[in-house]
Amino acid sequence: MAKRVRKAVFPVAGLGTRLLPATKSIPKEMVTIVDRPLIQYAVDEAREAGVEQLIFVTGRGKSALVDYFDQAYELEATLKAKGKSLDPIEPSNARFGEVVSVRQQQPLGLGHAVWCARHIVGDEPFAVLLPDELMLGKPGCLAQMVEAYDRVGGNIVAALEVPDSETHKYGVIDPGATDGRLTEIRGMVEKPASGTAPSNLMLPGRYILQPDVMRALDAQETGAGGEIQLTDAMAKVIGTQPFHAYRFDGERYDCGSAAGFVIANVAVAMQRGDVAPAVRDFISSR
Ligand code: G1P
Repeated sequence: MAKRVRKAVFPVAGLGTRLLPATKSIPKEMVTIVDRPLIQYAVDEAREAGVEQLIFVTGRGKSALVDYFDQAYELEATLKAKGKSLDPIEPSNARFGEVVSVRQQQPLGLGHAVWCARHIVGDEPFAVLLPDELMLGKPGCLAQMVEAYDRVGGNIVAALEVPDSETHKYGVIDPGATDGRLTEIRGMVEKPASGTAPSNLMLPGRYILQPDVMRALDAQETGAGGEIQLTDAMAKVIGTQPFHAYRFDGERYDCGSAAGFVIANVAVAMQRGDVAPAVRDFISSR
């Protein structure tokens, strides 16, 4: 039986330049989708999948992210004193001792960010979630992947189709045989030059990885854009252990850009009974 996935790494040290000026003073993961910060959705997704330890790889100016998961005593006391509901501050979904943070002191790439968590992850399988990729599904994307992982073990990454004109922006897989939602992976490449991608199946930022991938990152080799790439480390273990892509049942929103953020807000708003009617009325009036 595959060893359980108990730990998840959230690389959250990025500068969020595509969301300036908001990200001058708040982490992009704290920008809200309706009324919850983006990080909340990723953490909820991980918790739903059975993850127990949430490892944030942060950097300078990102402490609001870790603070968010603290108990807010003053706020609680004030709300209580005023007889107001505590519900709005309840959902952080992290219990005592489950949030850990490490620093990525230099922006050397996604692979480097994940590697910064190596001592906390230790010698066991782990998940990686990129919070600016919002995945909406029931069950959530990582929970669906864990269900597949329990059957086939090894490494599993989410993959989804994008138009050929977009593959150069992402990690892209070279697919082998497909069985249901699972496709064997023969290779993968980070940000292939236009016209050279092995397929149009990109990696939207959900991973279940074996410790061998962490060890592959020890080499600190640079790849696309001069950065240490997670995709390159994953590519190294293909062929030595099972490696599958999982086509998740749900929707993906790229919240790293202004338009993506607005679209994600509308999508989530439409699913929320408390805000959907007003938003729908407004949009149809335009
Ligand atoms: C990162 C990964 C890439 C993945 C993408 C998803 O790229 O390196 O493989 O497809 O996230 O958003 P970045 O967006 O950091 O350049």
